[in-house]
Amino acid sequence: MRKTLEDEALNQIFRDARTHSGWLDKPVSDELLQQLYDLLKWGPTSANGSPARFVFLRTKEAKERLRPALAPGNVEKTMTAPVTAIIAYDLLFFEKLPKLFPHSPGMRDIFAQNPQLVEETARRNSSLQGAYLIIAARALGLDCGPMSGFDNAKVDEEFFAAGKDCEGYEQEFFPAGHVKSNFLCNLGYGDEPKLFPRAPRLSFKEAATLL
Ligand SMILES: Cc1cc2nc3c(=O)[nH]c(=O)nc-3n(C[C@H](O)[C@H](O)[C@H](O)COP(=O)(O)O)c2cc1C
Repeated sequence: MRKTLEDEALNQIFRDARTHSGWLDKPVSDELLQQLYDLLKWGPTSANGSPARFVFLRTKEAKERLRPALAPGNVEKTMTAPVTAIIAYDLLFFEKLPKLFPHSPGMRDIFAQNPQLVEETARRNSSLQGAYLIIAARALGLDCGPMSGFDNAKVDEEFFAAGKDCEGYEQEFFPAGHVKSNFLCNLGYGDEPKLFPRAPRLSFKEAATLL
């Protein structure tokens, strides 16, 4: 039987979790980023397609490549964060369906013939996987700072070889420009005193209905 998590866990993941812009000078290890991926990957996606791709920028050099794409208000918080994740999506995600969804062999072809469905599915599910990343990060004791204030085309050109012939990239999903950025998320340990007061949320009545 599943049980409701303790309030302490719910507070850490939801009620007390804030969007951070100020960061403590405390590193995030590559092992923790691996652990983060190994948790978030279990979140559900359409046909188990798992279209999100993640680039973890954790060196000064990597951050500098991102800088020109950032909205001015997002520069300082991103440059000082221990890690910035680019949450992206692979428009060729369906090529992995034979592995990820083996009980339905026709699924690859359904996507291969319908670029609009591919785009819609990749965006929707990579956004979900980005949310799983935020929840998993908080469960692991990390703080997050998600951002959409950046130039997607610049990020795609710089990190995903949009429009370029790029032989020799390590990750199999980098070449040929079929990976697109969705949003960014700073990761680290937040500097609590730098937080603004928490803004309210909609009540159940304002946001939900029971039919
Ligand atoms: C997808 C997404 C994009 C966001 N983009 C930005 C951004 O570009 N710059 C920024 O300062 N905050 C950004 N935010 C932060 C939101 O304003 C913040 O999460 C929200 O106000 C809730 O704050 P809280 O978690 O502290 O309650 C973004 C959040 C999300 C989820």
